[in-house]
Amino acid sequence: MFNYSADFPFHRGRRLRKNSWIRDLVTENYVSVNDLIWPIFVVEGENKIEPISELPGINRYSIDNLLKIASSAFELGIKCVALFPYTPSKLKSEKCEEAYNPDNLVNKATRLLKKELPDLGVMLDVALDPYNSLGHDGLVKKNKILNDETLEVLIKQSLVQAESGADILGPSDMMDGRVKLIRENLEKNNFKDTIILSYSAKFSSGFYGPFRAAIGSSGNLKGDKKSYQLNYLNYKEALKDVALDLKEGADMVMVKPGMPYLDLCRQICDTFNVPTFAYQVSGEYAMLSNGIKNGTFDKNQILIETISCFKRAGCNGVLTYFAYEIAKFLKTEN
Ligand code: PBG
Repeated sequence: MFNYSADFPFHRGRRLRKNSWIRDLVTENYVSVNDLIWPIFVVEGENKIEPISELPGINRYSIDNLLKIASSAFELGIKCVALFPYTPSKLKSEKCEEAYNPDNLVNKATRLLKKELPDLGVMLDVALDPYNSLGHDGLVKKNKILNDETLEVLIKQSLVQAESGADILGPSDMMDGRVKLIRENLEKNNFKDTIILSYSAKFSSGFYGPFRAAIGSSGNLKGDKKSYQLNYLNYKEALKDVALDLKEGADMVMVKPGMPYLDLCRQICDTFNVPTFAYQVSGEYAMLSNGIKNGTFDKNQILIETISCFKRAGCNGVLTYFAYEIAKFLKTEN
């Protein structure tokens, strides 16, 4: 760092903060609709919009309504949606067969979206938790999460997702070696352009609670995910996992949760020259929306500030349940 500024009164920092035109001229970052990926929950059936009590303001959409809301997001300029299924318990099993059913909910939804809105990016999660009667991201045997056996299922799951037209696959399962095997299998099957956005720095976190309710897995899950997700006390380990995922063929990486983990966003952006995203997760959404609801925060101000913080930390973009609201606000502002 150069320390070249003059002393007071020759230097007055407030000259460059005096009014909005000069602040705009010297701004280092800004937020636009291009920074947003919108995660959406999908449910079986027709003409359904189910509110999710743990995520006030967020709904599960049946595929027909998903198309409507995704079209309107696309019109607002949102570039990509990430789909998460609510799976009825009769389709869940210990072997997670539904994960690689080409006609499962997210694959059907992806085919429809890619047909009707070909220029909207679609991202799907590669992980078993929505389909697992035991609630974990991997197969379970005698209370252990099996790594290599899970990989076999993830390979099949990711291939049917690519076949459905998913543009981005997001391995969020945290099994060792998954990016390598998914990438090899995609290449082998001629899916050369499928993007992998790996959940590389994904921590075992208390901030995921509302999400698990939203996909209907909280009732299934026994224990925690600490044997595969990262320990939030560790920094170097997260960087190592990013390096490995990149070596294995990830195109972009993610930090998750978001706001409490900005130190890693900054370090990953500075260390690896790849697009880096943060996931402002369900617990962060719940905190902020409760604060907005009870008047602690001004909605638009707080939302733009949080996204700005991710940009300042170096991120290319953010997965956020607020994406639609933010896109609407940005549109009215401009
Ligand atoms: C699971 C997955 C989770 C989220 C995205 N994919 C939860 C978990 O790991 O238990 C969390 C997203 C959120 O909390 O918003 N593979």
